[in-house]
Amino acid sequence: MSTPAAPTRIIIDTDPGIDDAMAIIYALASPELEVVGLTTVFGNAHVDTCTDNAIRILDIAGRHDIPVAQGAGRPMAQPYRGPADYVHGVNGLADAPLPAPSRAPHPLDAAHFIIDQVLAAPGEITLVPVGPLTNIALAMLLRPDLPEHLAGMVIMGGNAFVPGNASPAAEANIINDPEAADIVFGADCPIVMCGLDVTERTVMTSAQIASINDIDNDRARLAAAILPFYRDFHVSRGGPDGIHVHDSTCISYLIAPHLYGVQHHPVRVDCGQGVGRGKTWPSLRHSLATGPWGNRRNVAILTEVDGPAAVALELERLAR
Ligand code: RIB
Ligand code: CA
Repeated sequence: MSTPAAPTRIIIDTDPGIDDAMAIIYALASPELEVVGLTTVFGNAHVDTCTDNAIRILDIAGRHDIPVAQGAGRPMAQPYRGPADYVHGVNGLADAPLPAPSRAPHPLDAAHFIIDQVLAAPGEITLVPVGPLTNIALAMLLRPDLPEHLAGMVIMGGNAFVPGNASPAAEANIINDPEAADIVFGADCPIVMCGLDVTERTVMTSAQIASINDIDNDRARLAAAILPFYRDFHVSRGGPDGIHVHDSTCISYLIAPHLYGVQHHPVRVDCGQGVGRGKTWPSLRHSLATGPWGNRRNVAILTEVDGPAAVALELERLAR
């Protein structure tokens, strides 16, 4: 009988956010993972709201042991575009009535929390950013050697071979801070990009969302309370009869990488002020991987997914 592998130690950098909440409770219900901490960033809501929500989610999951460190309230080089309240609600969690957060955030800011945790456990921690990449970029600027001490990064963001969702060119997390994203995709560590190429092919249907009402635990009750709002947004925009599973895709990849197909290319981010701002550009022909794409590691870009299997796995963990 082989002994189970040690859990993958992760820090989730997050802007909760309905799908962020799903990814957090999914990770907490997965013994393959150890959630070392959450760090928060502006994005779906203002960062103060995201921090309150991160603590609320941990309260509901009974995980008062997991620290939450607050991070950036705005991008590096542009004004904050403002909260996506039409997607996630004004309070960031479908305007569901939720108890106040039980505690204050960690005394360190997100970037310094990440640096402290990573340097205390060299090679052990995987960063899982599922919001704008501002905190990760700031941590890299403060400690340029940070990537060499990381196990890697599994990032929800970008769109390699499909259109954007925040603009025709760009995905929401990237367009919220293109300069930060371009720094992060240049990190010298293993990076997995969980972009729209796979997240928009991973659909939790309305029927599956309704089935969550039959699950008797507090995490599922949170999911049942917040997912209908997110589903209504998708349907109102002509999307699927359900939701695109964005942030949870990072968790499914970490625990079941066999569900995904990958291409390896270096990635740059359009930081111009034109219509392409925020587009993630892989360099497919290595002969062209010179100049702006030169001396960048390949990013493992997820391009194929068994969407139904990934959703089934998330629902199985929600029921645990
Ligand atoms: O494009 C989807 C991403 O933007 C997800 O992380 C969602 O939470 C929003 O932040
Ligand atoms: Ca998010």
